[in-house]
Amino acid sequence: MRNSVFLQACRREKTAYTPVWLMRQAGRYMPEYRALRERVPFLTLCKTPDLAAQVTVEAVERLGVDAAILFADILLILEPMGVGLEFSKGDGPVIHRPVRSGADVDRLVESPPAETVPFVFEAVRKARAGLPAHIPLIGFSGAPFTVASYLIEGGSSRNYIETKRLMYQDAGVWRALMELLVRNITAYVNGQIAAGAQAIQFFDSWIGCLSPADYRAFILPHMQSLFAGITPGVPVIHFGTDTSGLLELLTEAGGDVIGVDWRIDLDTAWRRIGHDRAVQGNLDPVTLFAPRDELRKQVKRVLHEAGGRVGHIFNLGHGILPQTPVENVVALVNMVHEGSEELKVENEEEEKIP
Ligand code: CP3
Repeated sequence: MRNSVFLQACRREKTAYTPVWLMRQAGRYMPEYRALRERVPFLTLCKTPDLAAQVTVEAVERLGVDAAILFADILLILEPMGVGLEFSKGDGPVIHRPVRSGADVDRLVESPPAETVPFVFEAVRKARAGLPAHIPLIGFSGAPFTVASYLIEGGSSRNYIETKRLMYQDAGVWRALMELLVRNITAYVNGQIAAGAQAIQFFDSWIGCLSPADYRAFILPHMQSLFAGITPGVPVIHFGTDTSGLLELLTEAGGDVIGVDWRIDLDTAWRRIGHDRAVQGNLDPVTLFAPRDELRKQVKRVLHEAGGRVGHIFNLGHGILPQTPVENVVALVNMVHEGSEELKVENEEEEKIP
């Protein structure tokens, strides 16, 4: 397993080719997944370890990617807090009793994930057992801000008005909420590691709505304490979108690998992050709707920007969209593998020129 290309890249070791996996690689763009979902509601699927493991493993088999990501959701940890979680058809996730005040924060139920979401850890064990030995399993959690945004807004949001209102209104309440989430997420992620997850990704998907000054004041200390609590020896990927204004701060917060979206060139991003960290990204998910030649051009551009350096994990800048043609996703994985080997040969030949 030490020789898995994905884990090697996380540790910034030399790899034979550039590893690739894709956010939302198991999901609605896959006919097999849609067929399963006709029979099983989304939350039931997440709570049935055999099925969650099956979906995790099937995506890897279908795509030929270099890592698996556990099939679960960042919102699963909210249900046991007593706020009422529902995935409604069409509207996305709904929190029935959103948190809007200090009293609401005080009412949140805090209990060990091993008791409240044991099905996630069981899914980790089953997925690990079902995967080929050389394919690592990535566990994950939402990061505190992104999780809090659902908890406070009651669902998806555009402007995060309620979240920021709470953040600006009462520093003590905000801190109490962040600290509760950090404790919960730490236990959740360490539980996944104990069950067999070999890397962890924190999804801070909506962090890009914050100014750098607000990130520093309201988020950075909590992210640092989150990273400090994770079981050592397991690489952690720190992912966000719309983070072009925040890359230095995300790096300061922590993570062995920093996720980069497509709104910034990968080489520019990597320079700002520093070449002493690995990076993951950063193709626009919508290039998967482009003709093959354009897709290939874009894959080569990203690989070229990575410059053959150690520590690049190829991914999209955000998740695969549900309408994406599966065959284009398979083609992308092959293009990354072939393109990175070609680039490696080119680089080696250049080195030979006196
Ligand atoms: O990446 C994977 O293949 C692993 C599984 C995974 C899911 N959600 C399954 C899912 C992961 C890693 C997530 C993370 C997640 N969940 C994030 C962070 C990543 C991101 O996209 O920024 C967020 C914000 C959520 C919250 C969430 N879950 C939303 C907003 C929705 C509804 C919107 C949508 O895309 O449908 C979900 C539901 C969800 N989570 C689905 C899947 C496959 C679709 C549910 C269905 O089958 O209908």
